[in-house]
Amino acid sequence: MKIGCPKEIKSQEFRTGLIPAAVKAYVEHGHQVSVEQGAGLGSGITDEQYEQAGARIVATAREVWEGSQMIVKVKEPLASEHDLMQPGQLVYTYFHFAANEKLTLACLEKKISAIAYETVQEEDGSLPLLKPMSEVAGRMAPLMGAFYLGKPFGGRGLLPTGVPGVAPANVLILGGGTVGSNAAKVAAGFGARVTLLDINLDTLEHIGNIMPANVSPIHADAYTLEKGLKEADIVIGAVLVTGARAPKIVKREHLGLMKPGSVIVDVAIDQGGCVETSRATTHSDPVYLVDGVVHYCVANMPGAYSRSSTFALSNRTGKYGLLLADMGVENGCLSQPALLRGLNIHNGWITFKPVCESFDLEGSYKPAREALGSR
Ligand SMILES: NC(=O)c1ccc[n+]([C@@H]2O[C@H](COP(=O)([O-])OP(=O)(O)OC[C@H]3O[C@@H](n4cnc5c(N)ncnc54)[C@H](O)[C@@H]3O)[C@@H](O)[C@H]2O)c1
Repeated sequence: MKIGCPKEIKSQEFRTGLIPAAVKAYVEHGHQVSVEQGAGLGSGITDEQYEQAGARIVATAREVWEGSQMIVKVKEPLASEHDLMQPGQLVYTYFHFAANEKLTLACLEKKISAIAYETVQEEDGSLPLLKPMSEVAGRMAPLMGAFYLGKPFGGRGLLPTGVPGVAPANVLILGGGTVGSNAAKVAAGFGARVTLLDINLDTLEHIGNIMPANVSPIHADAYTLEKGLKEADIVIGAVLVTGARAPKIVKREHLGLMKPGSVIVDVAIDQGGCVETSRATTHSDPVYLVDGVVHYCVANMPGAYSRSSTFALSNRTGKYGLLLADMGVENGCLSQPALLRGLNIHNGWITFKPVCESFDLEGSYKPAREALGSR
């Protein structure tokens, strides 16, 4: 199959869809790979490294899109890329269709086969292509909290590691899934006293078994939340109710319990945030103050660490991508249920129900198995 990796064009997006090791794997499986000139530079990957792995470097995005049967990307195709999509092309990337009617209609019209990273789901309910970004954001969260505890940013001026004779910070983590457990690992590593609240007792048991003694997994309820907020220097929001907006666990009035200059890092902001006073911010303007509490609410945290994120993502997408390239979208999806769940649009049909429901497009729905037989 002819596989193409165009350069990402979304503002401040430095990740890229393929790393050289992935290119090499596709080539070894007999596929041809084209990479747009400079596509990897934001992640520290040169054109020469792609060439050494067996890719052909092409000058423009148009050449990549027009010359490929399968496109591997990171972000959803933007408006200027809709025209570049080729009829019947397989596009393998994050799509988030339910938030983007224009993109949905463009993919329907072009009869794109859209495999959305965010809905590729294994039998046990896990989302293997979302996980690496939660791992990155989770590990970043205490580091961002630590940085913005600095006095110049409105923070308390407390060094969270502690120094000889001075206590370290208290870090409160809300939610102990991928983000929360990764955040706990890093915060514990720099010496903070970590409290992690979750409603799932099995999760708490697991955290208790694997984390060091400076992490206390505690059942989340109104009492433990209030106590945790009073003591915290850094609060990390990491709750998720799958498929729903994040519950607003920390209310505006809770801020009055918190220490002036404490920092909230609301990682769950991409689902609306789990703090009532959170609103999405950007890497270029990441924080603001409410009632003396610093809020960091960047919705695409992993973009800041593009090199780590690119490698973490490509390491995970490679396995499913190879299967799609080797077997084609029909056989690939039919042989791998995780990919079948990842198929959102195929041959002019929406195959992922929540997308139809978002836009009143029920008439365009066809179950994935039926749509796959419809070409
Ligand atoms: N801002 C970013 O750049 C970025 C990057 C990656 C992930 N995220 C977001 O971070 C959030 C967490 O992702 P994840 O992968 O860790 O999810 P996850 O499903 O692995 O974990 C969520 C945890 O929240 C817990 N939870 C649910 N309701 C709760 C409540 N009321 N109180 C306490 N705990 C509760 C669940 O039991 C679960 O353990 C998601 O919204 C995700 O989209 C944001």
